[in-house]
Amino acid sequence: MLTFIAPSLSLADEVVNLYSARKEQLIKPLLDRFSEQTGIKVNLVTGKADALLQRLQSEGRNTPADMLITTDAGRLHRAKAAGVTQAVESKVLRDVVPESFRDPDSHWYGLSLRARPILYVKGKVDPSRLSTYEALIDPDWDNRICIRSSGNIYNQSLVASMIAANGAEATETWAKAFVKQFARPPKGGDRDQIKAAAAGLCDIAIANTYYLAGMLTSKDQAQRDAAAKMAVFWPNQQGRGAHVNVSGAALTKAAKNRKNAVKLLEFLVNRDSQAWYAEANGEYPVRTDVEPNELLKEWGDFKMDRLNLAQLGLLNPDALRMMDRAGWK
Ligand SMILES: [Fe+2]
Repeated sequence: MLTFIAPSLSLADEVVNLYSARKEQLIKPLLDRFSEQTGIKVNLVTGKADALLQRLQSEGRNTPADMLITTDAGRLHRAKAAGVTQAVESKVLRDVVPESFRDPDSHWYGLSLRARPILYVKGKVDPSRLSTYEALIDPDWDNRICIRSSGNIYNQSLVASMIAANGAEATETWAKAFVKQFARPPKGGDRDQIKAAAAGLCDIAIANTYYLAGMLTSKDQAQRDAAAKMAVFWPNQQGRGAHVNVSGAALTKAAKNRKNAVKLLEFLVNRDSQAWYAEANGEYPVRTDVEPNELLKEWGDFKMDRLNLAQLGLLNPDALRMMDRAGWK
């Protein structure tokens, strides 16, 4: 039998301090697994993305946080721009996280993919009439679209991706026409758009697919029934591909447990972790060699927009101002 002298003591002192904008149940099981495998304890602080970022900024060099996990590349970019993150050069991360889903300066890495396609009410929309986000301004869709407000970063990122693809002028013209297609003034979250469509208020909803997945597997019969009325249409398949975003992580500039934090980051992109994300939250793996879960597979393969997601952050202020000018509430 092997005996160790001191290491078990120092191992117990190994920690990573994590600020996470993900709901606890969507990250904690993975962190527990990490701790079991490595002996590194993870101290988790969960909060709203903007509040955590503010906290990091005010704590500055004294922050206890080694790592920040947040959703949306726009927010990861904000953290980087605020100067609270640092670069991580890791062959593991570089090899498995596709280039479009990580920061060009290696400050943040995508951990899971979230797709934002067009959802439509089965039987009310002929999917052969659908094609692109751009074409949603066609008279066909007049007064038939539900989408949440411009205050939400998911829509800001979608518009930013259109600015990157089509230019600012064309996107502004589009946005002005797009808001006229809304069946009602934007309100509620993505799930509310799906519910509104199912209830007959509109025929098209723009929402991230994990919300649809969450509703389909909900304990609440009403949510399951609403979601069952919807189908997924992958737009822009002849062109750049459907809009995707990431949840992702960055090391803080002040990270005191840097080595452990890098280990955790690498753990979160290993095959098991990536498969877990898909199962637990209906997101797509960021790795190309891990299959999405069964439900996601039913919606079919699709081409993703391979725009480097750092662009979503860089173009975010432009997108926001443009949506405002277009009268997108
Ligand atoms: Fe979300």
